[in-house]
Amino acid sequence: MAEPTEDPQITFTQIDVDLDVQEILLAASQHDFAKLRQLVRTQSQLPDAANVKDPETGYSPLHSAIAACEPETDDKTNGAATVDPDVLKSGIATVKLLLQEGAIWNDLDNNDETPGCLARRIGALELYELIVDAGVRAEMLMNRLDGYEELSEDENEDEEQEAKTEEEPETAPELVDASEQETAPTDAPANPQVSNRGYLDSNLTIEQDRILDSDQNGVMMEWEREIMRKSAAKLLPTPGLKVLNIGHGMGIVDGFLQEKAPASHHIIEAHADVVAEMKKRGWDSKPGVVIHEGRWQDILPALVENGETFDAIYYDTFAESYADFRDFFSEQVIGLLEQEGKWGFFNGMGADRQISYDVYQKVAEMDLFEAGFDVEWEDIPVPKLEGEWEGVRRAYWVVDNYRLPLCRFMD
Ligand SMILES: C[S@@+](CC[C@H](N)C(=O)[O-])C[C@H]1O[C@@H](n2cnc3c(N)ncnc32)[C@H](O)[C@@H]1O
Repeated sequence: MAEPTEDPQITFTQIDVDLDVQEILLAASQHDFAKLRQLVRTQSQLPDAANVKDPETGYSPLHSAIAACEPETDDKTNGAATVDPDVLKSGIATVKLLLQEGAIWNDLDNNDETPGCLARRIGALELYELIVDAGVRAEMLMNRLDGYEELSEDENEDEEQEAKTEEEPETAPELVDASEQETAPTDAPANPQVSNRGYLDSNLTIEQDRILDSDQNGVMMEWEREIMRKSAAKLLPTPGLKVLNIGHGMGIVDGFLQEKAPASHHIIEAHADVVAEMKKRGWDSKPGVVIHEGRWQDILPALVENGETFDAIYYDTFAESYADFRDFFSEQVIGLLEQEGKWGFFNGMGADRQISYDVYQKVAEMDLFEAGFDVEWEDIPVPKLEGEWEGVRRAYWVVDNYRLPLCRFMD
């Protein structure tokens, strides 16, 4: 209910708005398709009617429509509550309408749940899939728009460059730093504000079972060992192959790769503390090992120019954006991977929420396809990690299964 104010005009308007909001949320929760369509399209005076919020629950119309599908607790089949098929049908129509009208797929309610989280929790899996697909569309579009932004900034800078006086030294045009804009970094998404360059300038705490950055974000942790073991086994099934690993971290995957006795083993590592530690541990004198100190962005073009090729490549960096990762596989891998070679990456995109993980798997799959790669996924159960996060700024992994990717050139 609106607080009374001195100005009767404001009070009147506020009450109108509150009533509109409640009417939209009610129509969504009743799956009243005709009324909802009328409200969100024309009748309501609200500027963003498909995204209004209930002040008490934080529910958006999408939350309301999905919550209304929750089965009664005593309506059980084989011990599990199932969504009533008729309610589900009207729920699907309502959710589709809201998405068409611009409802935000990942808005949070006061319980820290997105509409998709809610759908998954109540077992409305068809609704969950609708929201995942909406997320994929939204993220693909956003990634494309970021690309255009980079391009137009670049063009502007070209023009500015031309206009510069001759005495000024030439500097490389700087692109938009997408790492601060994107939502799904490829590894431990410490927090979206951690940029790769900021990370590389920070001091690390390197312990036996973890590496933390200066803000206590987990860079690499021992619990990932099994994932690294399986990734190395898939990439190097036999001895005598040539392998490239990008991001040494705790050296776990490099340890497993070494066990496969590769003919050559190149490692790119950009953080000075990690490079110092790997030398202390004798990595520079292991068989076949070539260490490249620096960012892959600077090292890989020279490797391509020298004609180096690999049977296997692994990519696991930190504080990089999805755009960096996409650049890696769409620009660099083609020049480095043998025709029959395989490559993989640490698949940690969006792993702090199941729906984000599912959305980013599909986004990556589509971009990989566009770049000319097939990808196979293998699910690996991740043990409960509750005790692991002590002293770590935030749990970057909450999903139950790790999806291990193995990529090859398309036939
Ligand atoms: C998650 S750790 C890698 C863990 C490794 N897979 C393991 O098994 O221990 C990420 C590593 O990538 C490095 N790194 C971050 N950005 C990089 C970049 N642009 N180029 C090369 N290495 C980078 C970090 O310094 C860090 O050592």
